[in-house]
Amino acid sequence: MSNAAPAPGAAAVAAPATDAAAGGTFTLDGAEVPFAPGETILQAAHRAGHPIPHLCWHERLGQSGACRLCVVGVDGERFAAACTTPAAPGAVVVNRSPELDARRRLLLQMLFVEGNHFCPSCEKSGDCLLQQSAYEMGMLGPRFEEFYPQRPVDASHPQLWLDTNRCILCKLCVRASREIDGKDVFAIGGHGIATRLLVNSPDGRLGTSRLEADDFAAGVCPVGAILPKRRGFVVPIGARRFDPAPLAARGGTGGAKGPVAAGDAAGAGGTAVGGSAEGAESSESA
Ligand code: SF4
Ligand code: FES
Repeated sequence: MSNAAPAPGAAAVAAPATDAAAGGTFTLDGAEVPFAPGETILQAAHRAGHPIPHLCWHERLGQSGACRLCVVGVDGERFAAACTTPAAPGAVVVNRSPELDARRRLLLQMLFVEGNHFCPSCEKSGDCLLQQSAYEMGMLGPRFEEFYPQRPVDASHPQLWLDTNRCILCKLCVRASREIDGKDVFAIGGHGIATRLLVNSPDGRLGTSRLEADDFAAGVCPVGAILPKRRGFVVPIGARRFDPAPLAARGGTGGAKGPVAAGDAAGAGGTAVGGSAEGAESSESA
């Protein structure tokens, strides 16, 4: 997604003052959003109850800018990742527009076909940020041919399991392990389509790593790639985090929740976004 192209839907205005050190307000889809000194657009919007779609952002972790789902239009002049762009006084930010949503759908559709996502059989269904984002952006099908990559499942840990089929390489577990747990259990390795999540342990498996069930990294995954064992259906289908209403309608965050708490684990089932795909969106432009 280019940073140079204009953002349709955003009014073309003069560039605002950039003295973000003093804080101030900006507008987000017409709503006034206050920000504190040093806050990014996403942080301020999140705090003010205006969710911006995101996958690789977490309020307790440093900036990444990896997924690009949070890209917004700024001042009608450029696109920018809301999670890494400082809020500026007087800025005019567009979060939801047909073009931005179409671009997000495209990103999501690429993520779905790059991995193996079968929502009806995933224990994270209803609690998954990828699934919820796809619903919120109106994704109706995979658009691209699925890669169906061969990826391993690691069940060597006594309390946790790692299903890399579902990993979207958001790096949240990598950053959580480094920044909060101080362990460096995870890393990203490889290039291009071979990029994958690595476990830092003698045999590369979770069971011999330093990961513990109450580590922040163990509960931060926004999808169902890192899950606790023996915890299915603790929260019934229909009562999970994203079941009652879309994120945008609730004004909350879809940020991953951190350490696995009792009652957090999602049971198998739920409605399908990935895997059993609905109709293709071959005519959609993005
Ligand atoms: S395992 Fe989860 S948190 Fe870690 S990179 Fe993959 S999707 Fe992100
Ligand atoms: S790039 Fe901003 S949330 Fe991922």
